[in-house]
Amino acid sequence: MLENKVSISRQTAVENQFQISRRAFLTTSVLAGGAVVLAAIPMVSIVVLPSLKKGTGKWVDFGKADKLPPDDFSMLSYEFMTKDGWIDLPQRGFVWAKTDAKNGVKVFSSTCSHLACNVIWNRDTRMFECPCHTGRFDPDGLPVAGPPKKPLFLLPHKVEEGKILVHITL
Ligand code: FES
Repeated sequence: MLENKVSISRQTAVENQFQISRRAFLTTSVLAGGAVVLAAIPMVSIVVLPSLKKGTGKWVDFGKADKLPPDDFSMLSYEFMTKDGWIDLPQRGFVWAKTDAKNGVKVFSSTCSHLACNVIWNRDTRMFECPCHTGRFDPDGLPVAGPPKKPLFLLPHKVEEGKILVHITL
């Protein structure tokens, strides 16, 4: 009988110990979870939010539209700084623009639709040429030779007070 009481008492002590350690575990887990959430807030604002802003862009002023020679593409270069989290990054590139009396201003991205090399306008052949895989595009940006299957991307633009503004996607 006494042996049974001792055994039951030991069992109760072990159960209590288990409950206490389970309670301590749950408390620690909740506190740790709260700490992780608090630590994640600045990380989300620094790392995640800027990446969600990708896909936005910037209107870049390329100056007077009448400086473009008629019926021929001109390379217009740009460079500006963007903020990625706490880092300032330079954005550099160029677009191809032309103006004519019939269609007004037309602006193409310089990025080849195949694998994103930069295309160059060849005045002699009157083609956009991609040096990477010999892709060719006609003056309307349509693919005519090589691997590209999609046209060059026409960039949104507007002319305000005689200046060409092009929307560059980041
Ligand atoms: S990247 Fe231009 S043809 Fe391949």
